[in-house]
Amino acid sequence: MGNTVNTLIVGVPKESAADERRVSLVPDATSRLPGIQVILEKGAGEGALYSDEAYAQKGVRIANSRQAVYANADILVKVQPPTVDEAKMLREGAALVSFLYPVTNLEVVRILALRQVSAFAMDLVPRISRAQPIDALSSQATIAGYKAVLLAADLLPKLFPMLMTAAGTIPPARVLVLGAGVAGLQAIATARRLGAIVEAYDIRPTVKEQVESLGAKFVELVVEAKDAQDAGGYAKAQTQEFYSKQQQLLTERTRASDVVIATALVPGQRAPVLISKEAVLGMGPGSVIVDLAAEQGGNCALTEPGKTVTRNGVIIHGPLNLPSSMAPQASAMYSRNVTSLLQVLIKGGTLNIDLNDELVRGMLVTRNGEVLHKATRTALEAMG
Ligand code: NAI
Repeated sequence: MGNTVNTLIVGVPKESAADERRVSLVPDATSRLPGIQVILEKGAGEGALYSDEAYAQKGVRIANSRQAVYANADILVKVQPPTVDEAKMLREGAALVSFLYPVTNLEVVRILALRQVSAFAMDLVPRISRAQPIDALSSQATIAGYKAVLLAADLLPKLFPMLMTAAGTIPPARVLVLGAGVAGLQAIATARRLGAIVEAYDIRPTVKEQVESLGAKFVELVVEAKDAQDAGGYAKAQTQEFYSKQQQLLTERTRASDVVIATALVPGQRAPVLISKEAVLGMGPGSVIVDLAAEQGGNCALTEPGKTVTRNGVIIHGPLNLPSSMAPQASAMYSRNVTSLLQVLIKGGTLNIDLNDELVRGMLVTRNGEVLHKATRTALEAMG
């Protein structure tokens, strides 16, 4: 594969996870990486509808084997965390840019450290304004929030908009959005566009204005979280007592809804359970819950991640990896996030890792054999 001296090589492998259709770099992204040679595993873009020819036209080299991509990459760029075997294939001292969820992928992190890999986790982008173009959690959550509403609209045996027709008046569907972060706000906007009446709740009272500006009503509960938000803008975990109270109070709002879109997450924790079994049993037959938190255990007590189940006539959908179902644009957005990071990391055609840069330092999980991410290091030490 001719590793020309001094030309930095960015490798793009085909994603190996089941049902992953996204690709980490789209053909157009190469124009944002001048002087860099991109090599792509044959067919890596196919799931996202980008052909090898489209890459080749942009000067990308196509490799016939995964090994060739891993063995030649100075920087390997992925969507899903590498498997243990993939981590072993990385060149010693190479860099990796990928979603990593290091605390739950300890064995992979251990191997990355052993191989002296500089691993950057796209799930650890600090929430500072300078980092916004790199924020892959936000770009992918935008897509998930939109798609969740379309799935709900499809599963619901009712129309979303109010219609006044000669055959009678159809009332609008009522949608409740739990968690008004990036995915939740996009879900609100999408449900409003379809004509539903929307209300939304979040533990962080600061989002009230954003919810209202999208034409939804903000649900206020008589229970107030202590310290709802951390310095990074994320929700903080609360006591079990608080969550029980929340569930109780949300039961009434859930009952009044045709659709619940649940998006509440707390970084590094199981998703909070906001919809109890009792709340589900109180909903009308044919009502729909789309639980975007399914991957982190779910916001609904009855969610089965990856499945659609019906309980007492209520359809509970726990989709996994919705961004993959909109792979062309999800990939384009992810690719923009990745190239924005590479523009920070690559200076004058070489990789320049500035540990004094909070953005770089925040995302860097392993470097020179060390595990730099504190929570991961603690978890690894606990493992022994
Ligand atoms: P997330 O995906 O971690 O969580 C989704 C939502 O669930 C959050 O709004 C959170 O407050 C809420 N939630 C957690 N526990 C809850 C509970 N028990 N009950 C109700 N709601 C609960 O968060 P996301 O969407 O990634 O964004 C969080 C915040 O960060 C947003 O305000 C966003 O505007 C901000 N942000 C800032 C960025 C920047 O400055 N670069 C980039 C992206 C987001």
